[in-house]
Amino acid sequence: MEWEGDDTVLDAGCGTGEICMFISQQPGVASVVGFDVSPDFVSYASQQNSSTNILYHVADVSDLSTIKPEWQGAFSKVVSFSVLHWVRDKVTALKALHSCLKPGGEIVMVFATDESKIIPNYLKMAAHPRWAIYFKDFSPNLFPWPSSDLVNHSSHLLEECGFEVLSCHTKEHQHLFESEEKLRDTLFAMYPDLRYIPRNKHEEFLHDFENMAREAQVISEDCKITEFLSFVQARKL
Ligand SMILES: C[S@@+](CC[C@H](N)C(=O)[O-])C[C@H]1O[C@@H](n2cnc3c(N)ncnc32)[C@H](O)[C@@H]1O
Repeated sequence: MEWEGDDTVLDAGCGTGEICMFISQQPGVASVVGFDVSPDFVSYASQQNSSTNILYHVADVSDLSTIKPEWQGAFSKVVSFSVLHWVRDKVTALKALHSCLKPGGEIVMVFATDESKIIPNYLKMAAHPRWAIYFKDFSPNLFPWPSSDLVNHSSHLLEECGFEVLSCHTKEHQHLFESEEKLRDTLFAMYPDLRYIPRNKHEEFLHDFENMAREAQVISEDCKITEFLSFVQARKL
């Protein structure tokens, strides 16, 4: 994405705010608003990645009552990285983001599709003989984007929500961790369903997950995670 001068940017699902901080420092960016459904992430971002031209809020991209009225038509750019596969109601979320853009404004998103290599491993852990007992009331909270929607470098979902797709491609993405410890810290922070597991068993559980992911060749010997991600750029019509 190119910054054009006086850009006002919305980061949907900003997490810990590193990306908001990076964007806020780009020449051409006037201000950034980051929001996340997690109050803990928003609190961390406000403390660790604050700047005079960044504001953080708690909001759910698929709950219109949490989207601030003053965001309507206020942003020239929207970004959302690794968030949409956590959102069940993608149409509501995309329409919300569309409404926050100025006419002609652009959105860039990265998300996992149902070609994901890692998501099926989360589901397998919920059925694992050793861990299934803890997942009695389990309902998955990962909703990969259907790859059938992303045909011929376009997306019906995005078009249905008022976007013109500028580019759309899925590619293998590899993330190399410096050490086993860093890999484990990341899995610990990002694991979607750890709340089902008693705290004193977290380490053992993640160890089993890591072994399963290594067998499935999602995690390699040298601490690399391989994943398929979709990268989409679109414009508000
Ligand atoms: C993998 S993290 C990505 C964080 C950040 N975008 C980045 O790339 O570093 C996914 C983030 O999406 C947030 N999230 C999940 N569902 C959301 C929703 N419905 N509305 C807003 N944020 C959401 C999570 O709380 C988490 O911070």
